[in-house]
Amino acid sequence: MSPLTRRQLLALGAAGAGAAAVGGAGLWWTNGGGESLGGGRELVQPEVLSSRDGVLDVALEAAPAQVRVGAREANVQAFNGSLPGPTLRVRPGDTVQVAMTNGLEAPTNLHVHGLHVSPEDNGDNPFVRIEPGESFDYEYVLPQDHPPGTYWYHPHHHGHVADQLAAGLYGAIVVEDPDPAPVARERVLVVSDITLDGSGNLAEVSPPQRMMGREGETVLVNGQVRPEATAAPGERELWRVVNACPSRYLRLTLDGQTVRLFGRDLGRLPEPVELTEVTLAPGNRVELLVDTREGTSTLRAAPVERGSMDGMMGGMMDGAMPGDGPGNDEPIDLLTLEVAGDRAADAGPVPAGPSLRDLREEPVEARRTLDFAMGGMGGMGGMMGSMRGPGGMMSFTIDGQEFDAERTDQQVRVGTVEEWTLTNSSPMDHPMHLHVWPMQVVADGGRDVAAPRWQDVVNIPAFGEVTVRVAFDDFGGRTVYHCHILDHEDLGMMGTVAAR
Ligand code: C2O
Ligand code: CU
Ligand code: CU
Repeated sequence: MSPLTRRQLLALGAAGAGAAAVGGAGLWWTNGGGESLGGGRELVQPEVLSSRDGVLDVALEAAPAQVRVGAREANVQAFNGSLPGPTLRVRPGDTVQVAMTNGLEAPTNLHVHGLHVSPEDNGDNPFVRIEPGESFDYEYVLPQDHPPGTYWYHPHHHGHVADQLAAGLYGAIVVEDPDPAPVARERVLVVSDITLDGSGNLAEVSPPQRMMGREGETVLVNGQVRPEATAAPGERELWRVVNACPSRYLRLTLDGQTVRLFGRDLGRLPEPVELTEVTLAPGNRVELLVDTREGTSTLRAAPVERGSMDGMMGGMMDGAMPGDGPGNDEPIDLLTLEVAGDRAADAGPVPAGPSLRDLREEPVEARRTLDFAMGGMGGMGGMMGSMRGPGGMMSFTIDGQEFDAERTDQQVRVGTVEEWTLTNSSPMDHPMHLHVWPMQVVADGGRDVAAPRWQDVVNIPAFGEVTVRVAFDDFGGRTVYHCHILDHEDLGMMGTVAAR
């Protein structure tokens, strides 16, 4: 029985795709980079669609599109023909109307990830199914006290989510802060990954890649390969970074610059916190304040150890094992920041943000444990027996069950606080995401968390656990929670919650 590491699986996928790429960003560096290979273009911002007088009314079409990815023409799927789709810019209290059209060949729908809005009817309803050629009119009403921050949208039709994100369907949502920090400029940085074959088409994805969670060979920022941004020394920028990769974790560093964490997923921190690196699980966002210093800096994504399927694959992959290849386990350069010229005037201090709600001071109505597992791990020996389906897929479960849209897994009461202990009895990390209601992490791996930490995607480490509290405020209705390694979600690692 050969253990199969993440690196081997990913290398296997790259070989299977038959692409010229060696994986990761190695291609651009080792060959000298530059325009001809697609690196080094000026960073572009996605088109911005802003609300006016409290309303944002937009049409989004998910459809095949031909775009440039690096130096190549690529056949992708995109919202309104661009990768990423337009940035939706709104304010607390706004109404957002989206006429969504499905120009794809598979069913789809739209999810506004992280927004605290109703999950019912034509709100942020993950059970909507838009057939090819059909349209659906969504309406999202943001409460007056909606936290500012960086959110995003993507399709959410069970069974197609990872494929549709990997194909290029995602875009950012900015909820403006009524009391913004003084910055010279903001940048939205949507990080995604994609694997193209030799003719620029989306590569096939193998069953092991799905089980591991696919990682695209090319990592993009706003659809670009290693773009370049420029600034003057002494400027302060706000970077809104979205991890829109279906499965890839991003451990970000920006050498030579002073970086402070301004917000994470939702809201903002009372005080920005200086840091040297920050890790985003799939679905996470961070808002970073960058106080620029002269020089050239690189935003890098270092690989993150997120477990493996060692011992879980049985003899399935025997004889199909390539050697360890270079590429996906190397740090990837995402963008360069060129800081030069005359020094800008001092940006002034960042005013303190509002203090954060702390659910540890509030009564808890109910406690639950949710266990995330991969087929048959409990028994260890029975791996082959638990392989499922024609593709030889393992099962991905929560509390021993695969997703069933008809079944309600958790029944909660609107207006109450619950404590959920999320356990992981598998050898891989699972980033857990709950729709509509954000989570406050109160214990991480048995350790208490000091300051209130709010997120809408919380990583549950392999064989580890995390405890969160959730205030089921404002909305009733039925929605979902799931692993945001979207291949796992599509394979069944999703449950339903109904609030009444
Ligand atoms: Cu980002 Cu349920 O999704
Ligand atoms: Cu979501
Ligand atoms: Cu998972």
